[in-house]
Amino acid sequence: MKTIVILISGRGSNMESLLAEVAAGVLPVRVAAVLSNRADARGLKTAVAHGVPTRVVDHREFAERAAFDAAMSDAIDGFAPDLVVLAGFMRILTDGFVRHYAGRLINIHPSLLPSFPGLHTHRQALLEGVRIHGCTVHFVTPALDHGPVIVQAAVPVLDNDDEASLAARVLAQEHAVYPLAVRWFAEGRLRLVDGRVTLEAGQDSAGALIAPLVR
Ligand code: GRF
Repeated sequence: MKTIVILISGRGSNMESLLAEVAAGVLPVRVAAVLSNRADARGLKTAVAHGVPTRVVDHREFAERAAFDAAMSDAIDGFAPDLVVLAGFMRILTDGFVRHYAGRLINIHPSLLPSFPGLHTHRQALLEGVRIHGCTVHFVTPALDHGPVIVQAAVPVLDNDDEASLAARVLAQEHAVYPLAVRWFAEGRLRLVDGRVTLEAGQDSAGALIAPLVR
């Protein structure tokens, strides 16, 4: 069974969706630890409630971004994970950190990348007037909110949406696709080869607006 560690900075609802699927026996991974750069991240309590070890590496204790990343990667590597899962981890990572985890570092972003990288994605989508919005799971590369796309889920933008209603619609899809991507990795079907995602077909039956729909 593959081992993962999950990095969070706050609420941890994506982390919780993964832990729930692990607990239900439908996501065949061992979650070795949940790491946070903030001691007050709400998700840490959720992790403890699931019996998962937690660690805090507080970024404010490091003058340099590289020193923080080195401490964080020491903490991660202590758990020898096959996959590092960023789940609302709100730190920009150094190239060295990203390279160290090439092909085994994934992120979820609340937009259909490459549209709307960065923060306030739902506000950006509403300002642009797009009719379709969504979320993206991708392998992490040194460019922020960029990198080979693993899976995306799309939702409609409705006339009466505000940031909160749109965020909630997207978040429900985040909770569906992140466990899917981690499961593909756990099953050895998902790989990064020469900078491109390869995904072997399986028996999934994903919703029509989740792509790829792999059967
Ligand atoms: C999610 O929208 C995720 O896509 C983004 O940050 C948010 C984290 O939410 N990267 P949570 O902490 O998983 O609840």
